[in-house]
Parts: sequence; structure tokens; C-alpha cells
Amino acid sequence: MALWGARFKKELNSKVNDFNSSIKFDSKFYKEDIEGSIAHVTMLGKQEIIEKESSQSIKKELKKIKEEIESGSLIIDETAEDIHMFIETELTKRLGDIGKKLHTARSRNDQVTLDLKLYLRNQIDILIEKLNCLIKAFCKKADKNLDVVMPGYTHMQRAQPITFAHHLMAYTEMFLRDISRLKDTRKRMNVLPLGSCALAGTTYNIDRYLVKELLDFDEVTQNSLDGVSDRDYCLELASDISMIMMHLSRISEEIILWSSWEFKFIELDDAFSTGSSIMPQKKNPDITELIRGKTGRVYGDLIGLLNLMKGLPLAYNKDMQEDKEAIFDAVETAKICIDTFIPMLETMKINKNNMRESANKGFINATDCSDYLVKKGMPFRDAYKVVGELVSYCIDNGKVLETLSIEEYKNANELFEEDIYKEISLENCIEKRKVVGGPAPSTVKKHIEDIMKNM
Ligand code: ARG
Repeated sequence: MALWGARFKKELNSKVNDFNSSIKFDSKFYKEDIEGSIAHVTMLGKQEIIEKESSQSIKKELKKIKEEIESGSLIIDETAEDIHMFIETELTKRLGDIGKKLHTARSRNDQVTLDLKLYLRNQIDILIEKLNCLIKAFCKKADKNLDVVMPGYTHMQRAQPITFAHHLMAYTEMFLRDISRLKDTRKRMNVLPLGSCALAGTTYNIDRYLVKELLDFDEVTQNSLDGVSDRDYCLELASDISMIMMHLSRISEEIILWSSWEFKFIELDDAFSTGSSIMPQKKNPDITELIRGKTGRVYGDLIGLLNLMKGLPLAYNKDMQEDKEAIFDAVETAKICIDTFIPMLETMKINKNNMRESANKGFINATDCSDYLVKKGMPFRDAYKVVGELVSYCIDNGKVLETLSIEEYKNANELFEEDIYKEISLENCIEKRKVVGGPAPSTVKKHIEDIMKNM
């Protein structure tokens, strides 16, 4: 009979038992469940709600249960309703009446959200650590490619010259924002719900502030209905993770393009690409495609959670048991994607010559050519027109700005002189962009150093 079976005359139908059970996914937080119970029972003893000796014995036995699960000598029963019931049942099997005292002044409703918060707060720390490693990997790769000229794009059209390092460092900014979002989420999440009990608190003289201290929370929840029914923290985390995945998916998409025969900007290491079962020549960027695909799945987790919560009246409803698979899936997906992405990035080869070659072809120094005329006194709009016509002339005559003769320049405008060639050399165009955030190698180098200093 279930622990709640007293008012029932029949055992639960076995199909319903399977349907109702969450142990297959919530056994993940057995450690947090035990940690929470130890804090709770310590408080019950201290407040003399149960005898000190009972509190001590329960604590001791809970620790033993944890060790036994960890060593594999205690197997979690897959037919139990959930991890909370399993551990309490196990404790009671061992301690008899004393074990039955653990659940005084507590409900599974405040217990489950406590466990989930403890578990997810730890997962946030792991995610931050992984993102730090990812950022470091980007910085290292960028540092080796400070002078590698590549075309920067808008609308997927070659736009202005940048460096590969500058392009990579754009992603470190995104991942730093992701870390900052995770920290915010952790802060808002770190409020103790235990003591809300089923929905209406308790008449026992519990000390919620002691439990808060024991479990390292910053605050205690101020409304018991909200305490048990709030899942904002799952939604926030799923949203943070969706953004992490979106960032990973954007760089993945770029790597897919760059590794195509059309671009050939990079080559993935053999250990991080796959072949085709029929086309012998193929080398496919499967990892990046999977990251792009998994991003959609994580968005699904977020949307699922939003839909899960939108119609729920206060307080706890069993629908909320569905929160776990979604948020666990999001967390695990992000972790494995980051773990796989890092060594793939580290081993990726850069085809400098192809990048340089592409940069040569797209008139990406046309803005610099106009700026040259502006510096000689021409208003920008007029300069823009002169260079626009020059580009059109080049296209008609199979030339680029670098290969025009000085006579051709002079024909376009008298202000052009020999120094135009230096002015429009791509290296020089990049070098001159020393503005904060710009692609000049010295600027990017400083950006890398600033980030690495804080790692
Ligand atoms: N397994 C449940 C969940 O994950 C625990 C809470 C059950 N509470 C209840 N009143 N049935 O949400």
C-alpha cells in the first residue's frame, strides 16, 4: 500500500501506478532529496518538534541510504511512485516508527520544488563552468588568428574586411551574456520553498530560517501558495538555455557554411566529422548540424513548460510533475553540446588563403575608398557616389579596386593619388579600425586579454 493509502480500500491499478510514477526521471535528484530531508529533520530536532534522538537516527540513516545508493548496494525501486516516496519508505523500513516522523511539517509539494531548486542550482554552476571553458576555447582560437583577414558579411553578402579572430570573439560576448543570465536566474531561484508544506504552511513551530541557512538559500518564500506552485525558475532556466543553444546554433550554421566546398574557410578535424555510407568523397559536419537540430528540441522544452503552466490554478497540480523531463532534457542537451563543441573548435583548421582570397573579391574596401575621398575634403555622399560608379566600372571591366590603374582612378576623380593603394589594402583597412569593439588586431588582442583576465 502507498504511504498515502490509508483512506483507500484498493491498491492502485498497476497501469495507473506506472502512469502516475515519476521515479524514472526524478531519481536523478536522490542526493538533493536526502540533503533536503537532513536539513528538515535537523530543524525538527532543534525545535523539539520531534525528539533529538529521533532526529539524529534519521539523519544517520539518511546518510547511509545515500552511501548505499552511491555504491550500488541499494537499488532504487523503479515501481515506487517517486524518489521522495522511495527514500521515506526505505527509511521507515529500517527505522520503523522513528522513520515515520521525517515527514512531519512537510509535504511532497514543498519537498519536490525544494529538490528541483537544489538540483538545478547545481546544474547552473556546471553550465557556467562549461561556458567558461567554451569562452576560453574561443579566445585561444582567436588569439592564433589575429591577422587572418576574412570578409565580414551583411545579408550574406561580402561587406567589410574583418579578421577571423574578430568574428570568433563576437561569440564570446554572447556566451558571457549567457553566463550573466544564468547567474541572475540562480539568484532568483535561490529562495527556500520548504515550510510552505502542502499549500497553507503549518501550525508547527518550524524554523524556516535555520533550514535556509543549512541549505545555503538566500531567502525564504513569503507566500506558501506561491512557494509550492512556482516554476518560474524552470522557465527562466529553459529560456537561458534556449539562448545558449541559439548562440551555439548560429556558430554551428557558420561552420557548416565555412566547411562547404563553396567557402572552404575551415576544415573540421577527421575526428569531429563523419562520412557518407554511399558517397565516398563526403566529409560531413554532423556535430554542428546536430547542435542546430537539438536547438529546436530545447525550444520545444521551453514552449512545453510555458504551456504546462499557463492554465494551472493555485496551488500544486499533478501537471507540474511534467516539468522535470523538459528541464532535464534542456540542461543535458546544452551540456553535451558544449562539451562536444569545444574540442571540435580547438581542432578545426583555418584556411587563411581561402579567406583572404574571398576577401579580395567582394569590393569590401569600397567604404574605405570613399572615406579616402572624405579625408581629402569631399562630402561623404559625393564620395559614396564616385566609388559606387568605380565599382560598377570594375564589374563591367573585370577588375577590382586594387587592380585599377592610377589613370582610371584619376578619371573617376582628381582627388585620387598614389596613396590610394595603401589606403585600400585590406590589412590597412583592418588596422585602422582601432575603435573599441573593432577588428584591428591590437584591439582584438586587448579584448581577448580582458576576458581571459576575468576567467
Ligand atoms: N512526483 C511529484 C512531482 O514530481 C511530487 C509531488 C507530489 N505531490 C502530490 N501532491 N501528489 O510533482
